[in-house]
Amino acid sequence: MSHQHNTEELEGVTFWEKHYGQSERVWSGKVNKVIEDLVAPLTPGTSLDIGCGEGGDVLWLASNGWQATGLDISPTAISRAVEEAKKHGIDPSAAQFVASDLDAWDTKQSFDLVTLSFFQAPFQFPRAEFLRKAASFVAPGGHLLALSHASLPSFAQIPEHELPIFPSPEQELEALDLDPVQWSIHTAELRERTITAPNGEPAVMEDSVVFVQRNK
Ligand SMILES: C[S@@+](CC[C@H](N)C(=O)[O-])C[C@H]1O[C@@H](n2cnc3c(N)ncnc32)[C@H](O)[C@@H]1O
Repeated sequence: MSHQHNTEELEGVTFWEKHYGQSERVWSGKVNKVIEDLVAPLTPGTSLDIGCGEGGDVLWLASNGWQATGLDISPTAISRAVEEAKKHGIDPSAAQFVASDLDAWDTKQSFDLVTLSFFQAPFQFPRAEFLRKAASFVAPGGHLLALSHASLPSFAQIPEHELPIFPSPEQELEALDLDPVQWSIHTAELRERTITAPNGEPAVMEDSVVFVQRNK
């Protein structure tokens, strides 16, 4: 990838470290329901969660038989994930964490499951390249799950310049640019879930779900 990304990498670390520094815990620590629904029927193997944050999904995977790896650009998020794993008594060999920018990271290992959940930010970054890099880590027969916010929830008020990109499933597939001979598309759809808005009222969130499998 080009030099330009090194500058973006620094901006990325700075942004996410500030984000995680704002409170002791940012995410719920609970597994995402879509991941649970789609992954539970799979035979556990090796997994990689890109942009794992504080590790909630990785810890669920590790507790459900996966050899799980979580990668995140934020050292603060990763140290929280490591602490959570210890707190839950999860064997360190079952849940491994890496603090790195995906742009700078590479591995010879391939994974039976690669997940990217809400890999979105209020600044420009080469998301399509990251998606394709994620797909390159999937082993033959393995799955890739890309889950994104597809729209702004009704209660959220964010200045226009801070809005992330909200990809549709079709845009995710276009960005992934998968070879149809090598990949099968299992799910490419919008899913709604109800959450509690800050005012205590129920609010609907719309997620873009793309779940694909590399053919054996
Ligand atoms: C919106 S958060 C989602 C966290 C988690 N996946 C979840 O669903 O709660 C996006 C995460 O991606 C991480 N991230 C952003 N850019 C990254 C990059 N270039 N390489 C690795 N992680 C990155 C951020 O630090 C952040 O934890």
